Amino acid sequence: MRMLPAKPPFPFQLALVVFGLMELALLVRSSQAAQPTTDPAEVQALYAIFDRWGLDRPGGGGDPCPDVDVVAKLNSSIMFESYDQAILCNCSYAQSTTCHVIGLKLQRKDVLGRIPEELANLTYLQNLYLDRNYLTGPLPPFIGNLSAMRRLSLSGNALSGTVPRELGNLNELILLGLGTNNFSGPLPPELGSSSSLQHLYVDSNGFSGKLPSTFAQLSNMTTFWAFDNNLSGKIPHFMGSWTKLTTL
Ligand SMILES: *[C@@H]1O[C@H](CO)[C@@H](O)[C@H](O)[C@H]1NC(C)=O
Ligand SMILES: *[C@@H]1O[C@H](CO)[C@@H](O)[C@H](O)[C@H]1NC(C)=O
Ligand SMILES: *[C@@H]1O[C@H](CO)[C@@H](O)[C@H](O)[C@H]1NC(C)=O
Ligand SMILES: *[C@@H]1O[C@H](CO)[C@@H](O)[C@H](O)[C@H]1NC(C)=O
Ligand SMILES: *[C@@H]1O[C@H](CO)[C@@H](O)[C@H](O)[C@H]1NC(C)=O
Ligand SMILES: *[C@@H]1O[C@H](CO)[C@@H](O)[C@H](O)[C@H]1NC(C)=O
Ligand SMILES: *[C@@H]1O[C@H](CO)[C@@H](O)[C@H](O)[C@H]1NC(C)=O
Repeated sequence: MRMLPAKPPFPFQLALVVFGLMELALLVRSSQAAQPTTDPAEVQALYAIFDRWGLDRPGGGGDPCPDVDVVAKLNSSIMFESYDQAILCNCSYAQSTTCHVIGLKLQRKDVLGRIPEELANLTYLQNLYLDRNYLTGPLPPFIGNLSAMRRLSLSGNALSGTVPRELGNLNELILLGLGTNNFSGPLPPELGSSSSLQHLYVDSNGFSGKLPSTFAQLSNMTTFWAFDNNLSGKIPHFMGSWTKLTTL
């Protein structure tokens, strides 16, 4: 990513006007060459997800990753954090001709229903934020196939069932937010394999049993919230080896 030039905040304000406060698509690209296009399977997946949730299709039904220079100049991670609805793309693939969706955020959008299976086609997804909606049903095992995932945040929904052990396949996972849902059963021992994990929120659910001993491997853990559950046993000794822990 490039530094922003030391200019007045004009591009930021222009971007707000162009895209509106409620919907923003962000672009990360490294070249001014031919207009890149988004992977068609990902476009169809996004359309299907937005249709299912009764939301306007991103990009006005056109390409959801726009080729707009003013957006490319912004610090996309800051912008992504600032909106309740956003799509983050990287258009640097295939000599900057192809965009892949690397972030999807739909927070507080009154979204109803289950985690949509079309997400399985967003194979480049690194950030998925669906917090504070009305999602029900299970967390499907296919999420464990989204191997680029870094931040998966589903807090404040009504998701239920057990947490699939396939989440342990997510080697890049930094943040897992499952707080304030209706999950139950034990925390999967396989999650101890996601050794990049720094922030784990499992509070306010119906989790039971002991904390898995495999969590001893989560040596980068900084934030662990587990209150308001039905967990049992002692506070494990291995937490003493979580030397980066700041919030428990
Ligand atoms: C962009 O924002 C992120 C998150 O706040 C920050 O860590 C990073 O240094 C920023 N990058 C630039 C180039 O300003
Ligand atoms: C975008 O993708 C390219 C190609 O994989 C990669 O080199 C680059 O680091 C990515 N940029 C961001 C901001 O993720
Ligand atoms: C994924 O994309 C392929 C190709 O466009 C399509 O055939 C398939 O139905 C999609 N899967 C889902 C779950 O949407
Ligand atoms: C994960 O991907 C593999 C390989 O494409 C596939 O065989 C498997 O069924 C997928 N798992 C789930 C839970 O969708
Ligand atoms: C919570 O999940 C259980 C099944 O694990 C289900 O019986 C119950 O209805 C759910 N409660 C809510 C409020 O969704
Ligand atoms: C833990 O964090 C350090 C510093 O950020 C990083 O170098 C290391 O790869 C991380 N360990 C794992 C297992 O991800
Ligand atoms: C909490 O766990 C205990 C066993 O450890 C069990 O007897 C009890 O029914 C559980 N309560 C709830 C609300 O799940």
